Order: sequence, then structure tokens, then C-alpha cells
Amino acid sequence: MKKAKVFVTRIIPEGGLALIRDSCDVDVWPNELPPPRQVLLDKVSGTDGLLCLLTDPIDAEVMDAAGPGLKVISNYAVGYDNVDVAAATARGIPVGNTPGVLTETTADLAFALLMAGARRLVEGADYVRAGKWRTWGPTLFLGHDVHGATVGLVGLGRIGQAMARRASGFDMRVIYYDPNCAAENGAAVGAEARHSLNELLAEADFVSLHLPLTEGTYHIINAEAFSKMKPTAVLINTSRGAVVDSDALCDGLAAGRIAYAALDVTDPEPLPADHKLLTLPNCLVVPHIASASWATRTRMAVMAAENLFAGLRAERLPYCVNPEIYAI
Ligand code: DGY
Repeated sequence: MKKAKVFVTRIIPEGGLALIRDSCDVDVWPNELPPPRQVLLDKVSGTDGLLCLLTDPIDAEVMDAAGPGLKVISNYAVGYDNVDVAAATARGIPVGNTPGVLTETTADLAFALLMAGARRLVEGADYVRAGKWRTWGPTLFLGHDVHGATVGLVGLGRIGQAMARRASGFDMRVIYYDPNCAAENGAAVGAEARHSLNELLAEADFVSLHLPLTEGTYHIINAEAFSKMKPTAVLINTSRGAVVDSDALCDGLAAGRIAYAALDVTDPEPLPADHKLLTLPNCLVVPHIASASWATRTRMAVMAAENLFAGLRAERLPYCVNPEIYAI
């Protein structure tokens, strides 16, 4: 039987890629950087399935370049703001993602960023490496206590709840703002609801973002938000960069409107080496690695492969972001 033709836009962990190689006629983009636009359009042409990454903008043009045979778009991420889901739905193409398996790993990194910001870990490590450490100092690298502090979670979905559990274990008070979250989910992780973002921002010592990027959340953390936050506040972002207005963040950090930002995601992404954020000593940036553990990235690869296979067999995807297509 003729094998399904599939394009995979990057080398993903072998646990998933081997499954795809075994059963499909697969073309894998071998480079570290995403395929350039024209290459993507050429490579998808005539495919039955596409496995893509959050760095690949998958819009109507890509779907049309693939042609009418495209049966599935499997995104190797829980976030899917890179895919024009409405365009896929209009074409009857299911879009898959990888929820759940990266929840705890992402929350681990969010909490690591929180602690790094509180206790100025990277500044301290840089100081030692630069040969500046001469003696124990009574006021050397003073930071803020994590225990007893209040963490404000903007978004209390799976990852927000996992962050709340970590924070409770560190004797923090947990508050959250999430109009879509049922009160019992907050209560289950010991988190108290706040009814507006401003209320949360005014009260939190640490503000951690756990939101998808949508039209409604774009730049939700902006100059006005920084003006509501405590000057000692630490901002943690492991969601999507564009949830934060980067210019306003630069201004807020430089003017001391907030104390520190610890970011896994940025806008733009990747952040150019000469970006102003990287000149600020009170900003820590890591390269979008919140889900980057061996086990989690492998589980994501297997899930993405499972979505791909289901779509190729015209079966319902196990993890589908546009299930409404099945009602059509
Ligand atoms: C996602 O899955 O959306 C993360 O940003 C990367 O794992």
C-alpha cells in the first residue's frame, strides 16, 4: 500500500520520529532554523500530513500549497497560535497539539525563574565568573524571600495550577486571575481568585503568566499593568512573548517600576543579541526551554505522531484543537 506523504518541519526526538519513519513517506527538514517560507510552501505541496513547530507560521497559504490531500496538521506544542485554526477548520483539516505532557516540566521552569529572579541567581553567578567576588558582604546581592510572599498567577489552566502547587509547597500565598477558571479548580490548589487583573497586579510580589496568546491576551501586560505592580515585583513569563509589551517592559525595568523580569519567551523571538532587554541587569532571558526535558520532549513527539497518524487514517485526533470539524 502507498505510504502517506508527510513533511516534518524539524528533527524531533527519535521516540516520535522513528514511528513516523516506520509508517510514512517522510521528509524531515534537517536544519536548526525553520524552513524558509518558500521552502515550506514547496515541501508541503502534495503532502497528506504536516507535523510542524511553534516557529512555523501555518496559514491558509500553506494549507492551499499543500493541496486538497492535506488531512492533518499536527503541531509539536501545546500552544497553537502559529496555526490559523479558522483557516484549517474552513478546509476541514484537524489541528492537533500536545497538551498535558508538558505541564509539570513547564511549571518546573516557571518556578526556577521565580526563584532565580527572587534571589538574583544569574547576577550572582556572573559576578563570580567575572572574578569580582572578594568577600562575604552584608548587602551583597540582596533579593526577596520566596516563602511568605504572594504569587499572582495570570491564568489558572493546567500549567497555572501546577505552578500553584509548587508555590504552596514553598509556603507562598497564591492568588490568581482567570475569568475562565471554575472556582473549584482554584480551591483545589489553594489559590484565591481575584476578580480583576489590576487587583492581582497590585497585590502580587511575583506575577507569573500562564495564558495562551490570543487577540484578547496580546500585550495584556503593558505600561498600564506595570504601573499597577509593586516596585519590588518580579514578572515571570513562560507562556508566549507577545502577552507582554516588550517596550513597556524595557521602560518599566529601566525605571524601576518593577524589580525584575525572568522570561522564557519574548517578543520578538528569538530576541536579537542587541535587544534592550539584554542590556538590563534586572532581566533574565532563557531561550524558550520551559518544556525542554528529555522525557517531556519525547512524550510530545509521540503525541504529535499519534495526532498525525489519526489524521492520516481520517480518525478523530486524540488531541484536537478544532473538534468542531467533526460536527460538520
Ligand atoms: C508549547 O508547547 O506551547 C511550548 O511553548 C513549547 O513546548
